Amino acid sequence: FRHLLAIEGLEPPYIAELLELADHYALQNRRGTTQRDLLKGRTLINLFFEDSTRTRTSFELAGKRLGADIVNMSVSTSSVNKGETLLDTAATLNAMRTDLLVVRHGQSGAPALLAQKVDAAVINAGDGTHEHPTQALLDALTIRRRKGRLEGLTVAICGDVLHSRVARSNIHLLLTMNARVRIVGPPTLIPSEAGRLGVEVHHDMKSGLEGADVVMMLRLQKERMTGGLVPSAREFFRFFGLDAAKLAYAKPDAIVMHPGPMNRGVEIDSAVADDPARSVIGEQVEMGVAVRMAVLDLLSRNLRRNA
Ligand code: CP
Repeated sequence: FRHLLAIEGLEPPYIAELLELADHYALQNRRGTTQRDLLKGRTLINLFFEDSTRTRTSFELAGKRLGADIVNMSVSTSSVNKGETLLDTAATLNAMRTDLLVVRHGQSGAPALLAQKVDAAVINAGDGTHEHPTQALLDALTIRRRKGRLEGLTVAICGDVLHSRVARSNIHLLLTMNARVRIVGPPTLIPSEAGRLGVEVHHDMKSGLEGADVVMMLRLQKERMTGGLVPSAREFFRFFGLDAAKLAYAKPDAIVMHPGPMNRGVEIDSAVADDPARSVIGEQVEMGVAVRMAVLDLLSRNLRRNA
């Protein structure tokens, strides 16, 4: 693959290869023995049109650990503010002979559009409500490390599925790797195409979490809600917020995940989010660096062939 634009369409062996390589980098990162010259002479630009803490920082760390030159383009102080279009911005970065372009954009499909216009390998760091492929890969790596496998596990993805690119990428990845996926939330926050995705749909936490191996909570994305349909935080927490009582419906050894940023007291209670026996939220962030190193490594092999 020249780009990483989505999980949908990736074959199981490719996902397995990425996870194996990421596991290797996770081990190296813990030992502090990362190879530092793999991307020497390569340029990576982080082009984020939406806010980010985890994704942008971990792509920067991943690139630096592999020896790349990194530029974090600040869109808020760029010529985008003077009216420059997305495609003209891409053409400008292309003329600077960028090798790897990491793009986050509010419009679904924006990274795919850029990929048609630039020579760089384009990595989707989250586009609108479409996909966030590296998040699903780091989630899968975290699950695999904790549970030893993906196949046959029951994963409950809960909350605002409708607006979640994280949910879409996770659904595609987990189904491709033969896990069972349930989506759990109020009817207003479940996508209408859910029935066609091959997931079970639940509208209450008890049936949705019963027997689950993994409970993945999602942020309530108020910024993407239009038309006054924003649920009250208190009401949402009462019915769909994960607390110890609701977590008790899942298997006793179920792990708790959240891609971050979290709204504590809205979709997740602090006591659950911070419970070291159940929560793997910190490990997800750690695996984010390893997964992004693996993605940069694999895509740069094609760059080397193209050079
Ligand atoms: N999970 C995630 O994408 O977090 P950021 O928005 O902080 O990058």
